[in-house]
Amino acid sequence: MNRQILLKSRPKGAPGLENFELVERPEPEPGEGQFVVRHRFMSLDPYMRGRMSDAKSYARPVGVGEVMQAGTVGEVVRSRHANFRDGDTVQLHGGWQDFALSNGAGARKIDPAAAPIQSALGILGMPGMTAYCGLLEIGQPKDGETVVVSAASGAVGSVVGQIAKLKGARAVGIAGGAKKVEHVKRTLGFDDCVDYRAADFPAKLAAACPKGIDVYFENVGGAVQDAVWPLLNDFARVPLCGLISQYNDETLRPGPDVRSILRRRLTLRGFIVTDFQAKFADFQRDVGAWYRDGRIKYQEDVVEGLANAPKAFLGLLKGENFGKLLVKLP
Ligand SMILES: NC(=O)c1ccc[n+]([C@@H]2O[C@H](COP(=O)([O-])OP(=O)(O)OC[C@H]3O[C@@H](n4cnc5c(N)ncnc54)[C@H](OP(=O)(O)O)[C@@H]3O)[C@@H](O)[C@H]2O)c1
Repeated sequence: MNRQILLKSRPKGAPGLENFELVERPEPEPGEGQFVVRHRFMSLDPYMRGRMSDAKSYARPVGVGEVMQAGTVGEVVRSRHANFRDGDTVQLHGGWQDFALSNGAGARKIDPAAAPIQSALGILGMPGMTAYCGLLEIGQPKDGETVVVSAASGAVGSVVGQIAKLKGARAVGIAGGAKKVEHVKRTLGFDDCVDYRAADFPAKLAAACPKGIDVYFENVGGAVQDAVWPLLNDFARVPLCGLISQYNDETLRPGPDVRSILRRRLTLRGFIVTDFQAKFADFQRDVGAWYRDGRIKYQEDVVEGLANAPKAFLGLLKGENFGKLLVKLP
Protein backbone atom coordinates (compact mmCIF):
# COMPACT_ATOMS: atom_id res chain seq x y z
CA MET A 1 0.00 0.00 0.00
CA ASN A 2 0.98 3.61 -0.50
CA ARG A 3 0.41 5.80 2.55
CA GLN A 4 -0.25 9.41 1.62
CA ILE A 5 -0.81 12.60 3.59
CA LEU A 6 -3.44 14.82 2.04
CA LEU A 7 -4.40 18.42 2.64
CA LYS A 8 -7.76 17.93 4.34
CA SER A 9 -8.70 21.58 4.77
CA ARG A 10 -7.13 25.01 4.40
CA PRO A 11 -5.88 26.56 7.64
CA LYS A 12 -6.97 29.95 8.91
CA GLY A 13 -3.97 31.40 10.75
CA ALA A 14 -1.68 28.76 12.23
CA PRO A 15 -2.22 25.29 10.72
CA GLY A 16 -3.06 22.30 12.95
CA LEU A 17 -3.11 18.52 12.70
CA GLU A 18 -6.78 18.72 11.66
CA ASN A 19 -5.68 20.18 8.30
CA PHE A 20 -4.01 16.87 7.30
CA GLU A 21 -5.32 13.38 6.61
CA LEU A 22 -3.41 10.10 6.32
CA VAL A 23 -4.86 7.66 3.78
CA GLU A 24 -3.79 4.34 2.27
CA ARG A 25 -4.07 3.74 -1.46
CA PRO A 26 -2.76 0.96 -3.70
CA GLU A 27 0.85 1.30 -4.84
CA PRO A 28 1.03 3.11 -8.19
CA GLU A 29 1.78 1.15 -11.38
CA PRO A 30 3.91 2.77 -14.08
CA GLY A 31 2.49 3.29 -17.56
CA GLU A 32 4.69 3.59 -20.63
CA GLY A 33 7.24 6.39 -20.04
CA GLN A 34 6.72 6.36 -16.26
CA PHE A 35 8.49 4.97 -13.20
CA VAL A 36 7.72 4.42 -9.53
CA VAL A 37 9.99 5.67 -6.75
CA ARG A 38 10.04 4.28 -3.22
CA HIS A 39 10.79 7.27 -0.99
CA ARG A 40 13.60 7.13 1.54
CA PHE A 41 13.59 10.79 2.61
CA MET A 42 11.06 13.56 2.34
CA SER A 43 11.83 17.23 2.89
CA LEU A 44 9.71 19.48 5.10
CA ASP A 45 10.06 23.17 4.20
CA PRO A 46 8.44 26.46 5.20
CA TYR A 47 7.10 27.05 1.64
CA MET A 48 4.58 24.26 2.30
CA ARG A 49 2.61 26.67 4.46
CA GLY A 50 2.06 28.77 1.35
CA ARG A 51 0.92 25.74 -0.66
CA MET A 52 -1.78 25.05 1.97
CA SER A 53 -3.35 28.41 1.16
CA ASP A 54 -5.18 29.37 -2.03
CA ALA A 55 -3.98 32.99 -1.89
CA LYS A 56 -2.33 34.06 -5.16
CA SER A 57 1.34 33.10 -5.17
CA TYR A 58 4.24 32.11 -7.42
CA ALA A 59 3.19 28.44 -7.35
CA ARG A 60 -0.08 26.53 -7.62
CA PRO A 61 -1.53 25.63 -4.21
CA VAL A 62 -2.18 22.03 -3.15
CA GLY A 63 -5.86 21.31 -3.74
CA VAL A 64 -7.99 20.15 -0.82
CA GLY A 65 -7.89 16.32 -0.96
CA GLU A 66 -4.57 16.30 -2.85
CA VAL A 67 -1.27 14.86 -1.61
CA MET A 68 0.90 17.50 0.10
CA GLN A 69 3.83 18.55 -2.10
CA ALA A 70 7.44 17.86 -1.08
CA GLY A 71 10.87 17.23 -2.45
CA THR A 72 11.83 13.58 -1.96
CA VAL A 73 14.68 11.16 -2.51
CA GLY A 74 14.31 7.45 -3.14
CA GLU A 75 14.96 4.48 -5.41
CA VAL A 76 13.31 3.58 -8.66
CA VAL A 77 11.50 0.30 -8.03
CA ARG A 78 9.55 -0.19 -11.28
CA SER A 79 10.46 1.62 -14.47
CA ARG A 80 8.98 1.82 -17.95
CA HIS A 81 11.01 4.97 -18.67
CA ALA A 82 14.00 4.99 -21.05
CA ASN A 83 16.27 7.14 -18.82
CA PHE A 84 15.44 5.88 -15.32
CA ARG A 85 16.27 2.27 -14.39
CA ASP A 86 15.29 0.11 -11.43
CA GLY A 87 17.72 0.82 -8.59
CA ASP A 88 18.54 4.40 -9.67
CA THR A 89 18.55 6.90 -6.81
CA VAL A 90 16.55 9.98 -7.74
CA GLN A 91 15.47 13.30 -6.31
CA LEU A 92 12.04 14.46 -7.39
CA HIS A 93 8.94 16.33 -6.25
CA GLY A 94 7.35 13.16 -4.95
CA GLY A 95 5.07 14.52 -2.21
CA TRP A 96 4.12 13.34 1.29
CA GLN A 97 3.79 9.64 0.49
CA ASP A 98 5.68 6.33 0.46
CA PHE A 99 5.73 5.92 -3.33
CA ALA A 100 5.60 8.41 -6.20
CA LEU A 101 4.71 7.92 -9.84
CA SER A 102 6.85 10.06 -12.19
CA ASN A 103 7.27 10.70 -15.90
CA GLY A 104 10.73 12.12 -15.23
CA ALA A 105 9.71 15.81 -15.20
CA GLY A 106 11.62 17.57 -12.42
CA ALA A 107 13.42 14.34 -11.46
CA ARG A 108 17.21 14.04 -11.40
CA LYS A 109 19.46 11.08 -10.76
CA ILE A 110 21.83 11.43 -7.84
CA ASP A 111 25.01 9.54 -7.07
CA PRO A 112 24.63 7.82 -3.67
CA ALA A 113 28.43 7.41 -3.48
CA ALA A 114 29.07 11.18 -3.74
CA ALA A 115 27.20 12.30 -0.59
CA PRO A 116 24.43 11.02 1.74
CA ILE A 117 21.34 10.81 -0.45
CA GLN A 118 19.29 13.13 1.76
CA SER A 119 21.79 15.96 1.17
CA ALA A 120 20.04 16.36 -2.20
CA LEU A 121 17.15 17.85 -0.19
CA GLY A 122 19.36 20.11 1.96
CA ILE A 123 22.90 21.35 1.56
CA LEU A 124 23.21 20.05 -2.04
CA GLY A 125 19.58 20.71 -2.93
CA MET A 126 17.01 23.49 -2.83
CA PRO A 127 17.96 25.08 0.53
CA GLY A 128 21.71 25.08 -0.27
CA MET A 129 21.02 26.52 -3.70
CA THR A 130 18.82 29.22 -2.13
CA ALA A 131 21.63 30.26 0.20
CA TYR A 132 24.29 30.19 -2.52
CA CYS A 133 22.36 32.17 -5.14
CA GLY A 134 20.57 34.57 -2.81
CA LEU A 135 23.79 35.53 -1.07
CA LEU A 136 26.16 35.64 -4.04
CA GLU A 137 23.82 36.97 -6.74
CA ILE A 138 21.88 39.52 -4.67
CA GLY A 139 23.79 40.00 -1.41
CA GLN A 140 27.20 40.14 -3.13
CA PRO A 141 29.22 40.26 0.12
CA LYS A 142 32.63 41.88 -0.06
CA ASP A 143 35.73 41.31 2.01
CA GLY A 144 35.33 42.79 5.49
CA GLU A 145 31.61 43.56 5.14
CA THR A 146 29.07 42.47 7.74
CA VAL A 147 26.51 39.88 6.64
CA VAL A 148 23.57 39.21 8.95
CA VAL A 149 21.24 36.25 8.42
CA SER A 150 18.10 35.30 10.34
CA ALA A 151 17.02 31.68 11.04
CA ALA A 152 20.79 31.19 11.14
CA SER A 153 20.82 27.61 12.43
CA GLY A 154 18.41 26.43 9.74
CA ALA A 155 18.82 24.79 6.35
CA VAL A 156 19.27 28.02 4.40
CA GLY A 157 20.66 30.37 7.08
CA SER A 158 23.43 28.02 8.21
CA VAL A 159 24.82 27.88 4.66
CA VAL A 160 24.47 31.64 4.07
CA GLY A 161 26.71 32.55 7.01
CA GLN A 162 29.34 29.95 6.16
CA ILE A 163 29.56 31.07 2.52
CA ALA A 164 29.76 34.69 3.71
CA LYS A 165 32.78 33.72 5.81
CA LEU A 166 34.39 31.87 2.88
CA LYS A 167 34.04 35.14 0.94
CA GLY A 168 35.85 37.10 3.65
CA ALA A 169 32.84 38.77 5.27
CA ARG A 170 31.96 38.96 8.97
CA ALA A 171 28.98 36.64 9.55
CA VAL A 172 26.45 37.42 12.27
CA GLY A 173 23.52 35.08 12.82
CA ILE A 174 20.15 35.60 14.47
CA ALA A 175 18.56 32.49 16.00
CA GLY A 176 16.01 31.45 18.63
CA GLY A 177 17.40 30.18 21.96
CA ALA A 178 20.79 29.58 23.56
CA LYS A 179 21.33 26.12 22.07
CA LYS A 180 20.95 27.33 18.49
CA VAL A 181 23.07 30.43 19.19
CA GLU A 182 25.91 28.26 20.53
CA HIS A 183 25.68 25.93 17.53
CA VAL A 184 25.84 28.84 15.08
CA LYS A 185 28.92 30.29 16.78
CA ARG A 186 30.85 27.16 17.78
CA THR A 187 29.96 24.53 15.16
CA LEU A 188 29.15 26.68 12.13
CA GLY A 189 31.89 29.20 12.94
CA PHE A 190 29.93 32.44 12.53
CA ASP A 191 31.66 35.46 14.10
CA ASP A 192 28.68 36.11 16.32
CA CYS A 193 25.04 35.13 16.83
CA VAL A 194 22.25 36.88 18.71
CA ASP A 195 19.16 35.34 20.30
CA TYR A 196 16.10 37.25 19.04
CA ARG A 197 13.98 35.90 21.91
CA ALA A 198 16.28 37.39 24.58
CA ALA A 199 15.52 40.67 26.29
CA ASP A 200 17.12 43.69 24.66
CA PHE A 201 17.60 41.90 21.32
CA PRO A 202 17.89 45.11 19.21
CA ALA A 203 20.70 46.49 21.43
CA LYS A 204 22.51 43.14 21.38
CA LEU A 205 22.27 42.97 17.60
CA ALA A 206 23.65 46.51 17.32
CA ALA A 207 26.56 45.54 19.58
CA ALA A 208 27.29 42.49 17.40
CA CYS A 209 27.41 44.71 14.30
CA PRO A 210 29.63 47.65 15.31
CA LYS A 211 30.16 48.67 11.66
CA GLY A 212 26.49 48.30 10.73
CA ILE A 213 25.07 45.74 8.29
CA ASP A 214 26.03 45.52 4.60
CA VAL A 215 23.99 42.44 3.69
CA TYR A 216 20.87 41.28 5.49
CA PHE A 217 19.70 37.87 4.27
CA GLU A 218 16.04 38.02 5.28
CA ASN A 219 14.46 34.71 6.30
CA VAL A 220 11.91 35.70 8.95
CA GLY A 221 10.53 39.28 8.75
CA GLY A 222 8.48 40.62 11.66
CA ALA A 223 10.15 41.90 14.82
CA VAL A 224 13.57 40.59 13.74
CA GLN A 225 13.38 42.72 10.60
CA ASP A 226 12.42 45.75 12.70
CA ALA A 227 15.63 45.36 14.71
CA VAL A 228 17.84 44.87 11.66
CA TRP A 229 16.52 47.73 9.56
CA PRO A 230 17.99 50.72 11.45
CA LEU A 231 21.45 49.07 11.31
CA LEU A 232 21.60 48.83 7.50
CA ASN A 233 24.51 50.76 5.98
CA ASP A 234 24.41 52.90 2.85
CA PHE A 235 24.14 50.66 -0.23
CA ALA A 236 23.24 47.62 1.86
CA ARG A 237 21.70 44.66 0.02
CA VAL A 238 18.73 42.73 1.34
CA PRO A 239 18.05 39.39 -0.41
CA LEU A 240 14.43 38.86 0.62
CA CYS A 241 14.33 35.09 0.87
CA GLY A 242 11.60 34.34 3.39
CA LEU A 243 9.25 35.85 5.99
CA ILE A 244 8.47 32.79 8.08
CA SER A 245 7.24 34.75 11.12
CA GLN A 246 4.44 36.15 8.94
CA TYR A 247 3.30 33.04 7.03
CA ASN A 248 0.30 32.49 9.32
CA ASP A 249 -0.78 36.14 9.32
CA GLU A 250 -4.29 36.82 8.03
CA THR A 251 -3.69 40.54 7.58
CA LEU A 252 -0.78 42.43 6.04
CA ARG A 253 1.78 43.78 8.45
CA PRO A 254 3.14 47.29 7.82
CA GLY A 255 6.41 47.02 5.87
CA PRO A 256 9.81 48.56 6.59
CA ASP A 257 10.30 52.32 6.42
CA VAL A 258 10.49 52.83 2.65
CA ARG A 259 12.09 56.26 3.12
CA SER A 260 15.20 54.47 4.36
CA ILE A 261 15.34 52.51 1.10
CA LEU A 262 15.77 55.82 -0.65
CA ARG A 263 17.99 57.53 1.90
CA ARG A 264 20.36 54.60 2.23
CA ARG A 265 20.14 53.54 -1.46
CA LEU A 266 19.28 50.02 -0.39
CA THR A 267 18.83 47.11 -2.76
CA LEU A 268 15.89 45.03 -1.61
CA ARG A 269 15.18 42.15 -3.95
CA GLY A 270 12.81 39.28 -3.46
CA PHE A 271 13.68 36.00 -5.14
CA ILE A 272 12.59 32.42 -5.58
CA VAL A 273 15.35 29.85 -5.82
CA THR A 274 14.14 28.67 -9.24
CA ASP A 275 14.98 32.14 -10.68
CA PHE A 276 18.59 30.99 -10.60
CA GLN A 277 18.23 27.61 -12.29
CA ALA A 278 21.07 28.49 -14.69
CA LYS A 279 23.44 28.59 -11.69
CA PHE A 280 22.73 25.00 -10.62
CA ALA A 281 26.01 23.57 -11.97
CA ASP A 282 28.05 26.37 -10.29
CA PHE A 283 26.22 25.67 -7.03
CA GLN A 284 26.89 21.92 -7.21
CA ARG A 285 30.56 22.53 -8.00
CA ASP A 286 31.22 25.11 -5.26
CA VAL A 287 28.99 23.99 -2.39
CA GLY A 288 29.68 20.32 -3.21
CA ALA A 289 33.42 20.95 -2.84
CA TRP A 290 33.04 23.05 0.35
CA TYR A 291 30.79 20.41 1.89
CA ARG A 292 33.01 17.46 0.98
CA ASP A 293 36.21 19.09 2.25
CA GLY A 294 34.47 20.08 5.51
CA ARG A 295 34.51 23.86 5.01
CA ILE A 296 30.72 23.95 5.29
CA LYS A 297 29.10 22.15 8.24
CA TYR A 298 25.57 21.00 7.93
CA GLN A 299 23.08 19.71 10.47
CA GLU A 300 19.98 17.58 9.86
CA ASP A 301 16.93 17.11 12.04
CA VAL A 302 15.47 13.73 11.04
CA VAL A 303 11.97 12.61 12.06
CA GLU A 304 11.04 8.93 11.62
CA GLY A 305 7.94 7.90 9.70
CA LEU A 306 5.43 9.55 7.38
CA ALA A 307 2.73 9.69 10.08
CA ASN A 308 4.90 12.12 12.07
CA ALA A 309 5.26 14.57 9.17
CA PRO A 310 2.32 16.88 10.02
CA LYS A 311 3.47 17.37 13.63
CA ALA A 312 7.07 17.98 12.52
CA PHE A 313 5.92 20.48 9.90
CA LEU A 314 3.87 22.41 12.48
CA GLY A 315 7.00 22.48 14.68
CA LEU A 316 9.04 23.95 11.81
CA LEU A 317 6.74 26.97 11.78
CA LYS A 318 7.50 27.48 15.49
CA GLY A 319 11.27 26.96 15.35
CA GLU A 320 11.21 23.48 16.90
CA ASN A 321 13.47 22.02 14.19
CA PHE A 322 17.23 22.20 14.64
CA GLY A 323 18.77 22.02 11.16
CA LYS A 324 17.37 20.79 7.86
CA LEU A 325 14.10 19.04 8.65
CA LEU A 326 13.66 15.66 6.94
CA VAL A 327 11.33 12.72 7.29
CA LYS A 328 12.93 9.27 7.05
CA LEU A 329 10.74 6.61 5.49
CA PRO A 330 11.28 2.88 6.02
N1 LIG B 1 12.95 32.28 -1.68
C1 LIG B 1 13.17 30.99 -1.82
O1 LIG B 1 13.28 30.45 -2.93
C2 LIG B 1 13.29 30.15 -0.58
C3 LIG B 1 13.78 28.84 -0.65
C4 LIG B 1 13.95 28.11 0.57
C5 LIG B 1 13.59 28.70 1.78
N2 LIG B 1 13.09 29.96 1.80
C6 LIG B 1 12.77 30.62 3.07
O2 LIG B 1 13.93 30.62 3.87
C7 LIG B 1 13.58 30.63 5.26
C8 LIG B 1 14.30 29.52 5.99
O3 LIG B 1 13.89 28.28 5.45
P1 LIG B 1 14.61 26.90 5.85
O4 LIG B 1 14.11 25.87 4.92
O5 LIG B 1 16.07 27.14 5.97
O6 LIG B 1 14.00 26.58 7.27
P2 LIG B 1 14.77 26.44 8.68
O7 LIG B 1 15.54 27.70 8.90
O8 LIG B 1 15.53 25.15 8.68
O9 LIG B 1 13.57 26.31 9.68
C9 LIG B 1 12.72 27.40 9.91
C10 LIG B 1 13.26 28.26 11.05
O10 LIG B 1 12.61 29.52 11.02
C11 LIG B 1 12.64 30.07 12.31
N3 LIG B 1 11.32 30.60 12.67
C12 LIG B 1 10.16 29.92 12.69
N4 LIG B 1 9.18 30.73 13.13
C13 LIG B 1 9.76 31.91 13.40
C14 LIG B 1 9.25 33.15 13.89
N5 LIG B 1 7.95 33.31 14.19
N6 LIG B 1 10.12 34.19 14.05
C15 LIG B 1 11.42 34.05 13.72
N7 LIG B 1 11.96 32.88 13.27
C16 LIG B 1 11.11 31.84 13.11
C17 LIG B 1 13.03 28.96 13.28
O11 LIG B 1 14.37 29.19 13.70
P3 LIG B 1 14.62 29.93 15.13
O12 LIG B 1 14.32 28.92 16.17
O13 LIG B 1 16.03 30.35 15.06
O14 LIG B 1 13.64 31.04 15.17
C18 LIG B 1 12.94 27.72 12.43
O15 LIG B 1 13.85 26.73 12.86
C19 LIG B 1 12.05 30.51 5.28
O16 LIG B 1 11.50 31.80 5.42
C20 LIG B 1 11.73 29.94 3.92
O17 LIG B 1 10.43 30.25 3.52
C21 LIG B 1 12.93 30.69 0.64
